[in-house]
Amino acid sequence: MNQSKDKAFILKFSGIILGFIVLTVVLVFVARSMQGEPDSDANPSQVFLEEKRIQPVSNVRVGAEGMAALAEAQAVSAPAATAGGGEIDGEQVYNGLCQTCHSMGVAGAPIPGSEPMAQRFSEKGLDTLVSSVINGLNVMPPRGGNPALSDDEIRAAVEFMLN
Ligand code: HEC
Repeated sequence: MNQSKDKAFILKFSGIILGFIVLTVVLVFVARSMQGEPDSDANPSQVFLEEKRIQPVSNVRVGAEGMAALAEAQAVSAPAATAGGGEIDGEQVYNGLCQTCHSMGVAGAPIPGSEPMAQRFSEKGLDTLVSSVINGLNVMPPRGGNPALSDDEIRAAVEFMLN
């Protein structure tokens, strides 16, 4: 008696659940047909940003376009290279690189204005000190680690350190 009641209940109940499942699926399809396929490419600003994100880090440009880009880059960087009316600023070179070791005496780097610095100068002379920097000396890498520095820039920095 009880068992047949249970059976009837389970049957009814599974029927209801099945009905809900069918309803869910139907609603999903209805909702989809109402909205249409999402189309992210339709947004122009998003397209722009996406293209920007996948650009190569650096572009190789050749021919006339490359020459124009080169001229533009040189025009932009030229004033910086000749700052101070073409005069090389030893202080600027020193502050930009050399002071990282020489202001604190890292690894025995002679500190400007100190006794060891003056001693090296009186023993070796300016030219030798300059060539030490150009060629590197023990811990100090050639040109203080910046191969882009010219001999004149190195000399100006050394002169600044001795003043
Ligand atoms: C990585 C640290 C470091 C940097 C950067 C560095 N130096 Fe040095 N420098 C040293 C050390 C260390 C010595 C001492 C080397 C020795 O005598 O063993 C030294 C020595 C020198 C000397 C004395 C050379 C000699 O013959 O006795 C001069 C002059 C000098 N540096 C100038 C410079 C200038 C100018 C720059 C920047 C262009 C520079 N250094 C950048 C670490 C550095």
